[in-house]
Amino acid sequence: MAEKARIAVLISGAGTNMAALVYASRVGDCPYEVVLVASNDPAAAGLALAEAEGIATFALPHKGMTREAHDAAMEAAVLEAGAQYIVLAGYMRILSDGFVERWDGRMLNIHPSLLPLYKGLDTHARAIAAGDSQGGTSVHLVTPELDAGEVLAQVRVPIVAGDTPDSLAERVKLAEHQLYPRAVADYVARGQNPVWLLDRLRALALALPETDERESHGSPGFRVGGDKTGKFFAYFADQHHGTPHIALLVRTGSMDELLNLVESQPEVYFKPAYYGASGWVGIILDRPGVDWDEVVEWLQRSWRSVAPKRLTRLMDVADAF
Ligand code: GRF
Repeated sequence: MAEKARIAVLISGAGTNMAALVYASRVGDCPYEVVLVASNDPAAAGLALAEAEGIATFALPHKGMTREAHDAAMEAAVLEAGAQYIVLAGYMRILSDGFVERWDGRMLNIHPSLLPLYKGLDTHARAIAAGDSQGGTSVHLVTPELDAGEVLAQVRVPIVAGDTPDSLAERVKLAEHQLYPRAVADYVARGQNPVWLLDRLRALALALPETDERESHGSPGFRVGGDKTGKFFAYFADQHHGTPHIALLVRTGSMDELLNLVESQPEVYFKPAYYGASGWVGIILDRPGVDWDEVVEWLQRSWRSVAPKRLTRLMDVADAF
């Protein structure tokens, strides 16, 4: 089991989603732990609960402070706690662009509507007024534009006869308490998830010219050069032949290069079993801090080493610009 991801939860109110996140983190082998609960309101009910649970807390009223200064203080507390992700749970503040951009891909929010419907406030009243048959809730990545980042997960909640915004909000919260911990867990663990890793690798490999995917010895493989004469330039190996890693296999230039890589960076590279002296190297993907730009460079290089001349010539021309 990889080390747990450290998350900071930001709240302004009751903090019931925060509580759901905390208790889910205490069940089974949850991949995250809550290391800080922070609020812009020292009276937020959730702070007392977090304290009682032995979680570090931080509260700073925003009154009289600029947005930037308040965000900076919140961010400092988050960094001080060693958090790797910020999880907003009813944090009723618009965040400054700089703050959001620094946490790009590492800041999540839950919004009580089926995004992209009803961004902003009063979501339940608007859904009822529109005559919708269902409301719901969405977990999304935070980007500078309000409630507009990539949606990671949603749950639908039916609107029933006689529903008021409050009665609907109450049921939506029940759904949120199930959804949010699960979505956060999936998100922080995606780097160890073979399905997510393969999807990402596939998109990168098939973005190269004239490529296709073909299974080889039970592993997804990627070829260049067409149906009949295509040559493999990459394989996705999920703990293949007893190796403990999920890895990308690509061609290096030589056995010497391969051995040098393995010796100098054993946390990144390994020599795959059954590839003999062919120079195929394994690049470990289920490790913290994978550099995906480097993965792309390896894919390109490996592709280039077996692609037909007519294709590499085109790439040379493109590279010259
Ligand atoms: C939730 O409904 C959430 O979707 C919204 O604010 C509410 C927070 O409630 N962003 P709580 O403080 O977690 O109880």
